[in-house]
Amino acid sequence: MCGIVGYIGKREAYPIIINGLKRLEYRGYDSAGIALYDGNEIQLCKTKGKVVNLEERVAQEISTKGSLGIGHTRWATHGVPNDVNAHPHYSNSGDLVIIHNGIIENYGSIKKELINRGYTFKSDTDTEVLVNLIEEIKKNENVKLGKAVQLALNQVVGAYAIAVFDKNKPDEIVVAKLGSPLAIGVGEDEFFVASDATPFIEFTKTAIYLEDEEMAVIRRGRDVKIRKIKNDKLVHPYVQELQLNLEQIEKGGYDHFMLKEIYEQPSVIKDTYRGRLLADEGIIKLGGLEDHISKFTNANRIIIVACGTSWHAGLVAEYIFEDWARIPVEVEYASEFRYRNPVITEKDVVIAISQSGETADTLAAIKLAKERGAFVYGICNVVGSTISRETHSGTYTHAGPEIGVASTKAFTTQITVLTMIALKLAKIKGTISQSDYMLHLRELDTIPTKVQEALESDAKIKEIAEIFKDAANFLYLGRGYNFPVALEGALKLKEISYIHAEGYPAAEMKHGPIALIDEHMPVVVIAVNSNHYDKVVSNIQEIKSRKGKIIAVVTEGDTTVREMADYVMEVPNIPEMLSPLVTTIPLQLLSYHIAVMLERNVDQPRNLAKSVTVE
Ligand code: G6P
Repeated sequence: MCGIVGYIGKREAYPIIINGLKRLEYRGYDSAGIALYDGNEIQLCKTKGKVVNLEERVAQEISTKGSLGIGHTRWATHGVPNDVNAHPHYSNSGDLVIIHNGIIENYGSIKKELINRGYTFKSDTDTEVLVNLIEEIKKNENVKLGKAVQLALNQVVGAYAIAVFDKNKPDEIVVAKLGSPLAIGVGEDEFFVASDATPFIEFTKTAIYLEDEEMAVIRRGRDVKIRKIKNDKLVHPYVQELQLNLEQIEKGGYDHFMLKEIYEQPSVIKDTYRGRLLADEGIIKLGGLEDHISKFTNANRIIIVACGTSWHAGLVAEYIFEDWARIPVEVEYASEFRYRNPVITEKDVVIAISQSGETADTLAAIKLAKERGAFVYGICNVVGSTISRETHSGTYTHAGPEIGVASTKAFTTQITVLTMIALKLAKIKGTISQSDYMLHLRELDTIPTKVQEALESDAKIKEIAEIFKDAANFLYLGRGYNFPVALEGALKLKEISYIHAEGYPAAEMKHGPIALIDEHMPVVVIAVNSNHYDKVVSNIQEIKSRKGKIIAVVTEGDTTVREMADYVMEVPNIPEMLSPLVTTIPLQLLSYHIAVMLERNVDQPRNLAKSVTVE
């Protein structure tokens, strides 16, 4: 995964790069490094740990002069996270400096070849191999840096977003992309490079997103020349206006991005359906869907591919689509789907769900589905992301930037989009009655208020967190629409508190997990009003008789479960189909408070990254 930042222009590069790296830490934070060039000396500093560690080291060790620079924040793939493996990497001569996000898969054979030619390596990384391959080609073929990069990339197998400069060319940075994202910010006489637009948003609102297999030579005060890596063809740059603003990527008074993002849910859910849902008129308008409705209504089945939390949103959608639109749905882990030779036909519709729009496995699943003739629809949050471009059509979620590694608002906005799609299809297919259709449209329009009400239990949830923060294990149970919410609740707790947690369909408990229940086992049960309410009540009895501690998510005014449970977290009454949008809120808050009490790094939990651009 990793984040990369670069600058070439008229200002000091250091503050731009260091702040940019902080914004990209969601992409990895095992190590960080920077190289600055003032035309005389390259200053390079790198360290294990986070960008703040890098900042401290820079202050002690190097001059921060230079209006050309590149920086990197790493999520380790090859080589342990230490100072030596941190980027940037020099070539053997010391002339070339590179940063890289991705994996060079055939680095082993290239490394052997280079060693035979006398090259030595300081690190265990694939990246150091790449920069020396570039150097070898540059020397041997007597070509400029851009050409050498191009020839080298034609020899490598893998994924990359790279930025490299040459000591002998102080006015040039060369960048290239395949599989990992790369944006070029275009300012006045200055250019920025980054894994996404957040590092340069306060400097320019104009950006070029490189496509796969494209490279660019960026020349100070002049231009950006984009070429196809394979055939050297010049590409006319497609310059985009960015919608992002600075406030959206700052914490806005909250202690953590995750908490800010949990609290943003009422407004971003509204943003997601604004202009698309006209509840009183009974209209759902989704630009990306209108021209392709028949693909969906004629589909034999819908296959949803996703990873992590997005996969959980897909599971919720399975219930909604099957229940209301009567279309068979399969929900697949993208990583499994892509490798198991799935049966896909032209009559299948594939929905790919991804917050970042960059997840490598989801992207590979999309490519496979397209090759086999399926129509592929994307639900992404990041505008212009690779998945949003690779799919035939799609809908953006409008959640705004999600920085906390644990996904929260992306999940609820994904469900909002999926619900609108399902309701629209159900209406067209005639599988929903007019009254149910109108009821659910109007109820969807009340979700922001109901999520707001659910957030008001925060103080109470914090008290519950205090009681259970030292538990070693948690079980999460739900049925029907709320089974995926149980999975998501358990995932949130694992991710940020490092407490072991499992989500289960409540009825499956008796096929195994019940053996774990004793007085030390907190069991979070989603027991809101639904068709399965009585069944969930029975499951609660089963836990109670084994002395498990019950924390129940209940509907306001509930008395039955309240009497049985040890603790309750209330949410407003809501039709079952829409309930995951609200029941997930207390579970997010519970995980958040436990993680804070355990002094975990909530926004950047260990070993995780926000955008997983490697398999
Ligand atoms: C990572 C993140 C998760 C996310 C998953 C899928 O594991 O930490 O929060 O759900 O990737 O990411 P995507 O961007 O495709 O939704």
